[in-house]
Amino acid sequence: MADARTPGWSRRAVLAGVGAAPLMGFAPGREAVKGDGSLKDHAGRAGMQYGAAVRASLLAEQPDYRAAVTRECNIVTPELELKWAWLEPQRGQLSFTSADAIASFAAATGKAMHGAALLWHLSIAPWAAEALADQPDWMIVRRFLASVIPRYGEVTHTWDVINEPMDMGHRMDGLRPSPYLAAFGPDYIRRALEDARLYAPRAKLFINEFGLDYDFPVERDKRYLLLKLLEGLKTSGAPIDGLGMQAHLELAKQAHFDPKVLAQFFDDVGSLGLEIRISELDVKEANGTLATAERDARVADAVRRYLDVAMANRAVGSITTWGLSDRCSWLDSPGGKAGPNRGLPLDAALRPKPMYHAISEAYALRGG
Ligand code: G3I
Repeated sequence: MADARTPGWSRRAVLAGVGAAPLMGFAPGREAVKGDGSLKDHAGRAGMQYGAAVRASLLAEQPDYRAAVTRECNIVTPELELKWAWLEPQRGQLSFTSADAIASFAAATGKAMHGAALLWHLSIAPWAAEALADQPDWMIVRRFLASVIPRYGEVTHTWDVINEPMDMGHRMDGLRPSPYLAAFGPDYIRRALEDARLYAPRAKLFINEFGLDYDFPVERDKRYLLLKLLEGLKTSGAPIDGLGMQAHLELAKQAHFDPKVLAQFFDDVGSLGLEIRISELDVKEANGTLATAERDARVADAVRRYLDVAMANRAVGSITTWGLSDRCSWLDSPGGKAGPNRGLPLDAALRPKPMYHAISEAYALRGG
């Protein structure tokens, strides 16, 4: 089992057959050829990325899921496996087994891996939250960043360094109260970005945020204050390359979707010289009792309207859905509170739904 003392994960080791177990069934060259109509084919022709959040357990246990991810994605995001609580549940005991499995899968199938999420209040290891509350020691954070980021340098060229730093209603600057903010103040963001740059000199570094998509007062405030944060970071020379728009859409909120408002926000972010990743796209349904075709049409319509705006802005280069198939969505998990939903591109049997076509048509807007 990989632990903190094993050498870092490397594509060379993977291709040489080290750690072959997770790669069983893969033969280099079996990649889908260009022109196969997959989402990654459309994305590639548009010079873009299509990805999904994936889980190591599903890749290992479900060959049809693994084949679908192999076919559709040119980038994958570990849904769980790169988070601090997952990687280091006990202080000093790092276990990279699941993250390595995803990195190996990505390398062997010619994909990139997006790194999510380094500092997130919801995924901080509980021991680290306690330690930071006791003593604001940046070395605790730095050690984590130093053990994770370089390990995946060959396959990971984009990182969410800070996840969900904003939460309205607490402070004038809109920053979310978190163990990091409490220990280090607002400067934790710049410090984390600078460390990440040190450990991944060529990677692109992102702040990833949700709740920016609709025209509600709280989302308006969040967009405004997030722009201020990004502007301040850029002005001070902090190494920030882009913004991840999670884009967890909700049909119950669609009446408050205003393409002009979203387009303006994308313009504002882009004019700071930042890239935009649509990082966690999915759709929470409002009514699971309608006929399936109607449900799927509503989901696809929300995605189409969103991506029409996104594709019009050249700062947007990448779309990742938060899961690939309705077989496994966080919205169905105990924390997701949504009940059954059909908010991902493939249905539970891995058949493309109208949402899938809405995404491929979006790439077509860019020549894909
Ligand atoms: O796998 C275990 C299972 O064995 C156990 O019985 C069960 C008991 O609760 O937990 C299962 O693990 C859960 C895991 O999801 C898989 O379902 C974890 O408790 C739960 O914390 C974890 O939630 C994930 C969450 O991030 C926290 O890491 C969601 O799957 C994941 O989709 C979600 O992703 C976040 C993004 O990182 C940030 N943006 C929002 C997005 C959705 O919340």
